[in-house]
Amino acid sequence: MADSYLIKGGKPLKGEIILSGAKNVALKTIIAALMFKGDVILKNIPRINDVLDLIELIKSLGVKADFIEKNTLKINSNNLKNNRVELQYGSKIRVSFMLFAPLLSRFGECFVPNPGGCRIGARPIDRIVKGLVALGIKVDYDPDTGYYHAKISKKPDGKYRFEKPSHTGTELLMMVGLMTEGKVEIDNVANEPEIDDLILYLNSAGANVSKEINKIIVSKSIELKQKEPFTIMTDRNELVTYATLTVASGGDVIIGPIAENLVSSFLEIMKEAGAGVEEISNYKYRFYYKGGIRPVNIETSPHPGFMTDWQPSWAILMLKAKGSSVIHERVFENRFSYVEELKKLGAKIDFVNVNVENPEFFYHFNFEKDREYKQTIKIQGEEDLHNAILNISDLRAGAALACAALLADGESIVNGASILERGYEDFVEKIKKLGGEIKKV
Ligand code: EPU
Repeated sequence: MADSYLIKGGKPLKGEIILSGAKNVALKTIIAALMFKGDVILKNIPRINDVLDLIELIKSLGVKADFIEKNTLKINSNNLKNNRVELQYGSKIRVSFMLFAPLLSRFGECFVPNPGGCRIGARPIDRIVKGLVALGIKVDYDPDTGYYHAKISKKPDGKYRFEKPSHTGTELLMMVGLMTEGKVEIDNVANEPEIDDLILYLNSAGANVSKEINKIIVSKSIELKQKEPFTIMTDRNELVTYATLTVASGGDVIIGPIAENLVSSFLEIMKEAGAGVEEISNYKYRFYYKGGIRPVNIETSPHPGFMTDWQPSWAILMLKAKGSSVIHERVFENRFSYVEELKKLGAKIDFVNVNVENPEFFYHFNFEKDREYKQTIKIQGEEDLHNAILNISDLRAGAALACAALLADGESIVNGASILERGYEDFVEKIKKLGGEIKKV
């Protein structure tokens, strides 16, 4: 199977991008559908590899799931018969550990492997497991098999406070909370808008979830049953990828639809960098090059800050800035796999040391004192980029590499297309529509 892109770079991109549905909502709404009775119809589900892998996984458990239109998925889990996620399915996709929620609710007991997914740091689930235990669930881990075994003897209730917030952790504990006969309270939760969309979906089917800043309360709900199809939100990560690429290429592209509050920190920083940004209508934005790009330093942080998923795309824009800029990654370790690859194109990027006063608090991963971390890079802008052979090792880094090749002179090969396509729907078609030269080889 063709798993590389052949890219001829150097063209300014022009046109319009219609955003696909958000990967990080699609995956969770599909998993939560296994807690519903009867048919669940989800609209705007992107046909990306992560979604297709998850569909294979839930089918292996006995669930029916089929696309009835290009982006409309119909799920029925009435015949869910298996409480063990097989490794060949679970290891492909990190969110497989979220199946704890539906499997516990259906069987009271389940076996779930240690999660797979992008290698952007150790990505442990220690805080999440602690949360499950705090809600009354017994969880054992067998290091020989790499499997978690979870069991409930009574319906979950009680309180849990995340030491540091976790996005999927918040969502999983909330979904586990749906089984409560009383009340589940989760504190210091993540505030990503994708979580709000999941809550909207659950509540529209009879759940009783309320959210304030940093806190979620789940009260006893009626049996979950969908009343009407649910349309998931569009993908803000996709917007950032195409917007930075557009401006870096000297182009002019309209992107949407998406609500302004979901991307406001990004829009602000684009303006600071001197990019043309205009809200034109109906949640659509025009991004365009309007002269020299200014270097802007960023520090990633959870919502409403500058998202970690956006920093590889920011690096691409900063390759074209007049001067040097710094990116400091606070959420994940090891999210700079694109650096060595970009150097192959002639980019000047170095890791730099930055003193942080209280790193245990400052970083969102579990910081270890005696370990060496590489969390900051300095990018020297305005270097000419030439062609190269690049290798993708994680999703967002992959998008950055394909975009960099679109900016570079000559023909490049980017290997690992299937990793990028875990999260980007119709990437080749969308780039071609904007006038970019790309094909799968
Ligand atoms: N962490 C732990 N222990 C835990 C949970 C998290 O150490 O028990 C650490 C993580 O390793 C990370 C930090 O805490 O360093 C924050 O992780 P979080 O749990 O919030 O991230 P996640 O839920 O694994 C989701 C998205 C990511 C996105 C982050 C931040 C999904 C499927 N994934 O990951 O998306 O970057 O939240 O918003 O929703 C992507 O789409 O490419 C992607 C990586």
